[in-house]
Order: sequence, then C-alpha cells, then structure tokens
Amino acid sequence: MAKAKPKLTSQTPKRVIYPGTFDPITNGHVDMIQRSLEAFDEVIVLVAHSLKKKPVFDAKVRKKLIEECFKNDPRVRVEIYDGLLADYARQHKIHAVLRGLRVVSDFEYEFQMATMNRKMNPNLQTFFLMASDNFFFVNSTLVKEVFSHGGSVKDLVPPHVEKKMREVLC
Ligand code: COA
Repeated sequence: MAKAKPKLTSQTPKRVIYPGTFDPITNGHVDMIQRSLEAFDEVIVLVAHSLKKKPVFDAKVRKKLIEECFKNDPRVRVEIYDGLLADYARQHKIHAVLRGLRVVSDFEYEFQMATMNRKMNPNLQTFFLMASDNFFFVNSTLVKEVFSHGGSVKDLVPPHVEKKMREVLC
C-alpha cells in the first residue's frame, strides 16, 4: 500500500523553497518570488551550491542583495546552503520547491532536477511558474555579460544590485 504523504491543513503555513545560484538576483527572480506569494505564505530563497558554477559574487553578498529586495516583506527569508536541496527540505519539513520556466530549453534540465529531487525526497514536490513576458530572456550570466561590456542593466536588476555590480565588476 502507498505510504501516506504529509497533508497540509488550512492552518499549516504553505512554505516553498526557491533555490538558485542568484549570481546576482535579477528582476526575473524578484518577479518569480513576488508571484509565488500569491500561492504560498512564505518563500525561503535558498542561495544554493551548484557544482557547475563558479559565482562572481560571494554567497553572503548574494544573500544580502536578495534580502535588500524584500526588506519590507517578512514572508521572504533568505538562507545560504551548500548541501542537497532534498535534505534541506527534509530537515525543515518543507514539501514544495519553486522553479521558473522561461523557455522550452529550461524544461529538460528542470524535469531532471525535479525527478532527482523527488527520488531523494519523495515528499518534495516541484512547482513551476512561467516567467513573465518581460523576463523570459533574462539570466544572471547575460546580465553580467551585458554590464561588463558597458550595456545598461537598468531594467534587468534592482538598483542596489546594479550598484554592487559596479563595485565588483568594474
Ligand atoms: N529570471 C531570471 N533568470 C532566471 C530565472 C528567472 N525567473 N530563472 C532562472 N534564471 C536563470 C538564473 O539566473 C541562472 O542563470 P545563470 O545560469 O546565468 O547563472 C539560470 O537561469 C538557472 O540557474 P539557477 O536558477 O540559478 O539554477 P542553477 O541551475 O544555477 O542552480 C540549483 C541549480 C542551485 C538550484 C541546484 O544546483 C541545487 O538545487 N543545488 C543544491 C544541491 C543539490 O541538491 N543538487 C542536486 C539537484 S537535483
């Protein structure tokens, strides 16, 4: 017989983990977090470790930049974590992960990650939100690339992120 999954009651706050590298946070990520708060009570933004990436910004700086975006919203919490997402969710009794889908090419990677995460933690469900029209072409690498060649990133990142990019990348 299938094992019963943990059930959420109407009193249980609906928490979701939004993991990523956030090197740095962009307006696309901000949009995703804001929209997810229509469905979830609390978002834990997890500055997570990816073997494939060598971030330009230190994890503590990335955390601070995210916190600054949501300093007036207690529903958003930011954590740094360098273990497995599936373990973080288990330790904190969180059953939902949020990921954004921008273009069709995101799908295969996201599908593999969601499946692997569920294999490691069967109580973990991944929820996908489609990126807004304004941000479906944005990613952190492109933002850094545009900026380092003198292009404007005004509409792509919050002003304090642009300021930090000027300090670190110029
Ligand atoms: N708006 C703008 N950009 C977006 C976006 C959105 N809505 N959604 C994704 N992106 C961008 C990101 O900026 C990032 O850009 P980059 O590649 O230029 O840095 C890219 O799309 C996707 O990366 P991100 O969302 O940061 O995920 P990731 O693939 O870098 O990170 C982790 C993956 C960190 C979530 C994953 O490695 C993880 O869970 N790590 C923990 C360890 C673990 O459990 N590993 C096993 C996972 S199965």
